[in-house]
Amino acid sequence: MKNAAIILAGGVGKRFGGDTPKQFIKLGNKLVIEYSIEKFYKIVDVLVIVSHPNYIGDLKAKYKLMVVEGGNTRQLSVKNGLESLSDKEINYVAIHDSARPFVSLGLLEKMFQIVQEKKAVIPVITSSSSVCRIKDNLIEEYIPRESISFIQTPQVFDYNLIYNAHKKAFEEGRFDFTDDSQLVNFIGEKVSVITGEETNIKITTRFDLGVAETLIKKGFF
Ligand code: CTP
Ligand code: MG
Repeated sequence: MKNAAIILAGGVGKRFGGDTPKQFIKLGNKLVIEYSIEKFYKIVDVLVIVSHPNYIGDLKAKYKLMVVEGGNTRQLSVKNGLESLSDKEINYVAIHDSARPFVSLGLLEKMFQIVQEKKAVIPVITSSSSVCRIKDNLIEEYIPRESISFIQTPQVFDYNLIYNAHKKAFEEGRFDFTDDSQLVNFIGEKVSVITGEETNIKITTRFDLGVAETLIKKGFF
């Protein structure tokens, strides 16, 4: 059995701002993306980074890994990563946002087990706030909190299942799915969930970087 991982670093970080994409800035004593590289490297057979073009040279020099260029959307970046694995006889693939530095190896290992039976498994966490739908600045509907989940990465899939889903979405002109489980759902297949991790935050804004720095200082990582 052969496991692979795709670490996504093809975005520019519009919401984060600044000249350097957020995955390539310093957090503690290393770059944001390096937290993921170091963890995934330990447990997969093939690791591919999908990178913003300006950083491909540096990554290749430092890590001797497969590095391919990102696309215009997250979905297209993942597709590039999947294509680069197509001749590698991969059974299962984890797809991860480099902007989530703190996922645990334990969660990742558990998902590589579950995927052998379920074909598609993703981590989710529940909402601690009440939830509602708004229309025209008014509450339209309250949604039971227990029925809502926040989706995280890494997401782990049967390689052929997720690659076929990406090819189908592409053929049908859909390029804007924001996570990969949506593509599995798009082709009518089931997605299993596992409890994710509160600490597995995504760095989207400067505030999130502050939270990440605090987590490190407080000894969470
Ligand atoms: N990503 C990618 N290729 C893209 C867009 C995003 O590989 N064309 C990656 C990002 O590098 C990030 C992950 O997908 O690790 C999650 O995306 P997000 O947090 O939205 O990052 P950005 O798209 O870079 O940020 P923004 O949406 O604020 O521009
Ligand atoms: Mg984005």
